[in-house]
Amino acid sequence: MTINRRTLLTRTALGAAALALTKQNAIAKALAETGLKDLYKDDFYIGTAIGNARLTNPPAGFNALLAREFNTMTMENDMKWERIHPEPEKWVWDHADQFMQFGEQHGMFMVGHVLVWHSQTPSWVFNDDNGKPLSREALLARMKSHIDTLAGRYRGRIHAWDVVNEAIDEDKGWRKSPWFNQIGPDFLDHAFRFAREAAPEAHLMYNDYNMHNPGKRQFVVDMLKRFKQEGVPIDGVGMQGHVGLEYPNIAEFEKSIEAYAAQGVAVHITELDLDVLPVAWDHIGAEISDNFAYSDELNPYPNGLPADIEDKLTERYVQWFKLFLKHRENIARVTFWGTGDSESWKNDFPVKGRTNYPLLFDRQYQRKPAYQAVADLKK
Ligand code: GLA
Repeated sequence: MTINRRTLLTRTALGAAALALTKQNAIAKALAETGLKDLYKDDFYIGTAIGNARLTNPPAGFNALLAREFNTMTMENDMKWERIHPEPEKWVWDHADQFMQFGEQHGMFMVGHVLVWHSQTPSWVFNDDNGKPLSREALLARMKSHIDTLAGRYRGRIHAWDVVNEAIDEDKGWRKSPWFNQIGPDFLDHAFRFAREAAPEAHLMYNDYNMHNPGKRQFVVDMLKRFKQEGVPIDGVGMQGHVGLEYPNIAEFEKSIEAYAAQGVAVHITELDLDVLPVAWDHIGAEISDNFAYSDELNPYPNGLPADIEDKLTERYVQWFKLFLKHRENIARVTFWGTGDSESWKNDFPVKGRTNYPLLFDRQYQRKPAYQAVADLKK
């Protein structure tokens, strides 16, 4: 076929159009590949918590989403004592190892959760072979051996550890857990020292819920002061951030960020999710032994979130991220407790079988309006 001017022109035009399209695709692709972690890269890490079902059997596109959106990861359950060390001589490493492999492959900041906690810890931990409570010394030895094995295995690879979780009972002082009852309040000092020995390079954190509560804030600040005086190694404080549309008071939350940062530790938002359902209790927290009976009244949006509530969710997320950005100098990380709404513990807590919408991705892992709004704060 002869190439005349006309065909050439057409071809060129087509070529140019094709090129423009390729360029557009490249831009679209680049945009699609830009996740929150990129938008917030000069501010703080952005993370998610992952459960083993998602890890071993990810829905289509899930791993790509994790890699695109997040640069830090926490295991939701599988490094907890009952999962990883269910019996005195039994350790279950598969999920944790797989988590490490995935995170390392994507160059993530790896968070270990958790070394010492009263929940999701088997009762044998606190007892001897006859079921009698262990002495202080014996329980400390057991704690040390657990920390040595777990933190030691991932030494130099887990970048930050939740060393102690939830040791403070609101404004009532120390939680009367077996750790406290059998060892005394210095169980934390030991836990942090053991963790420093087992994983000297790791950033060590105290993690808790309702950290905006003024009584708890003061208690934590006093603890940090004492740690500093006595040389107990601590580098960060985790504010879990299980929040709702109406709680907590953001100004109180801000005071806590400031108060903890003033003690020279990094602040981590460790378990962020935003509950939109009716509050089923008279206190707000995350004591996971609390539970309430289901009723349809407590589950008003089983088939989708009405637009006005979706707007409230978006607006509230914007308020939180504005706060985090304001304190970016002191905030090291913001981790969501889960990725998509369907996998959130908030569907079952504190009432089983509800439909909740606490995260930035919907049940199909699509970005929600709240995602766009949080992203837009950085555009
Ligand atoms: C607490 C714990 C987490 C998790 C949540 C609920 O916040 O720190 O490990 O158990 O409760 O999923």
